[in-house]
Amino acid sequence: MTTLRLRPEGPADTGPVRRVLAAAFARPDGTTPGEVALVEELRGSEAWIPELAMVAEYGGEVVGYALLSRVRVKSDDVTAPAVALGPVAVAPHRQRVGHGTAAVQAVLDAATELGERLVVVLGDPAYYRRFGFAPADRMGLTSPWSGLGEPWQALVLPPSVSGEPAPPRGEVVFPAPWSRV
Ligand SMILES: CC(C)(COP(=O)(O)OP(=O)(O)OC[C@H]1O[C@@H](n2cnc3c(N)ncnc32)[C@H](O)[C@@H]1OP(=O)(O)O)[C@@H](O)C(=O)NCCC(=O)NCCS
Repeated sequence: MTTLRLRPEGPADTGPVRRVLAAAFARPDGTTPGEVALVEELRGSEAWIPELAMVAEYGGEVVGYALLSRVRVKSDDVTAPAVALGPVAVAPHRQRVGHGTAAVQAVLDAATELGERLVVVLGDPAYYRRFGFAPADRMGLTSPWSGLGEPWQALVLPPSVSGEPAPPRGEVVFPAPWSRV
């Protein structure tokens, strides 16, 4: 039986990941979607966390992708780390069979293992609430997307050791590649 395999991306995955992103976010005018440049610019930046770039492989083919990368939460003079989810993409011919859900859950689990405490995402609440995401403004988190309301969401991950400080609140600052989307 063919099963889905989730694993961190490797050097050989760059082309396949690009193809999945281009197909999933395809634009009516045929231009390359901004999500392709977003991933390629993040990959060469300090925001990149290799363990948290996850491909979903089915029958030896890369069919899905989920990425968490570094963002900062600023509050008064303190800056704390968090991670942003996205892009999440599944090749159109393999959508709606659970690959997207599996890929997102895999990066969230890997982030928990690494001791990350806070994940933010901009996306459809109907999709992301299944992972536990909730409106981020209610958690005291702002961003350039706060004004969009419900799509601006956050998830607190369980602490990896007891006694960890509470997850940060404040202004979430996204690195420059995010201006691509
Ligand atoms: C969104 C996406 C990643 C979901 O992956 P998937 O493998 O198709 O989704 P799954 O099979 O894991 O989950 C299917 C469920 O998600 C829902 N769903 C799928 N795409 C959705 C969307 N864009 N908005 C809301 N819900 C969506 C389905 O209705 C289904 O719900 P159900 O479980 O209640 O029946 C995929 O459809 C995709 O690549 N879309 C284009 C790119 C995109 O919009 N990415 C998300 C923004 S970063």
